[in-house]
Amino acid sequence: MRCPKCLLCLSALLTLLGLKVYIEWTSESRLNKAYPGPRGTLPGPTPSSAEPTLPTNLSARLGQTGQLPSAYWNQQQWRLGALPSVDCQAWGAAAAAEIPDFTSYPQDLRRFLLSAACRSFPQWLPAGEGSHVASCSDKDVPYLLLAVKSEPGRFAERQAVRETWGSAVPGTRLLFLLGSPLGEGGPDLRSLVTWESLRYHDLLLWDFLDVPYNRTLKDLLLLAWLGHHCPDVKFILQVQDDAFVHTPALLEHLRTLPPTWARSLYLGEVFTQAKPIRKPGGLFYVPGSFFEGGYPAYASGGGYVIAGRLAPWLLQAAARVAPFPFDDIYTGLCFRALGLVPRAHPGFLTAWPADRARDPCAVRDLLLVRPLSPQDTIWLWRHLQGPQC
Ligand SMILES: *[C@@H]1O[C@H](CO)[C@@H](O)[C@H](O)[C@H]1NC(C)=O
Ligand SMILES: *[C@@H]1O[C@H](CO)[C@@H](O)[C@H](O)[C@H]1NC(C)=O
Repeated sequence: MRCPKCLLCLSALLTLLGLKVYIEWTSESRLNKAYPGPRGTLPGPTPSSAEPTLPTNLSARLGQTGQLPSAYWNQQQWRLGALPSVDCQAWGAAAAAEIPDFTSYPQDLRRFLLSAACRSFPQWLPAGEGSHVASCSDKDVPYLLLAVKSEPGRFAERQAVRETWGSAVPGTRLLFLLGSPLGEGGPDLRSLVTWESLRYHDLLLWDFLDVPYNRTLKDLLLLAWLGHHCPDVKFILQVQDDAFVHTPALLEHLRTLPPTWARSLYLGEVFTQAKPIRKPGGLFYVPGSFFEGGYPAYASGGGYVIAGRLAPWLLQAAARVAPFPFDDIYTGLCFRALGLVPRAHPGFLTAWPADRARDPCAVRDLLLVRPLSPQDTIWLWRHLQGPQC
């Protein structure tokens, strides 16, 4: 008479074992993901929504159906027509006043919120002749713009990119996106950056404090710059300066994309079903009083490609999506507002294990890996050209 119980126990045990194996399997394939949440599966075939649209009411697009959470972002997004273009400080002051536990937020997040609606900054131009970064000429529109998010002090990272995957491959153009070389309490890098800018003509600088929470400014200011100076660029790679891009393979992949995909491309290592991290003190901590719910499907900010023609669309969306501290999540939100979905490519690995940094054979079939040191980047590029694999 104890057998039914035994069977029950056994099947429960087997289920648990199966679950454990499954969890281990999925987490192994998603090592070190930036915003760990319930392990998502990579999306299968995505709906073929090739054309962006921007409805007057974004609530449904952004998943705001049903009971509206009381968190600040959710409430803001619900009410938001458009972010203020004048008196941007008012938005931050209101956030500080309305979030009940604002004073307990980490300092970076508080600073972010106070100035988050301020998004127009002048270019920081090095003194001297010819310091402007050249516009794309009619005859020389890049097929792929390599837009590298760097920081003024990261000279070695930039030089490694110039000497390797960012070197003049036909069809590409390299630009580094930077904030002000006059940091806060840091060394004054203005003269060094000025020299570098005049030497290489590939630095786009703006006059804002270059800190991680200001990275969205680089995205938006680049898109605005492109509208004036390079509106016909076909694709834009938004990438960090510690990434290694297998440029020829990436170009080859982009050239073989179905045209409907290419038109609305948002391509990278895609995370679905990621959730905010609630552990105070941790990297990427997001308080519950600020944001409730899951993140949109988004491509990891380590490196992703978007279609150039989406630049004006993304700017329009950004004017109507409430500020969020992480640049890649924010881009995911803007794409979602446009009704577009990210496409996952297994060749983008933005949490590449350090012990594989010098494995050219592994990288040969990939499109983008990170993080890599400048030395590893140079080593890898050299060996990728060779015949070993
Ligand atoms: C947006 O649509 C929702 C229904 O999805 C509605 O409840 C809400 O009032 C609308 N918001 C605005 C600003 O019109
Ligand atoms: C971003 O830059 C602006 C302009 O320099 C600055 O006021 C703001 O505090 C910066 N954001 C953060 C999070 O430091």
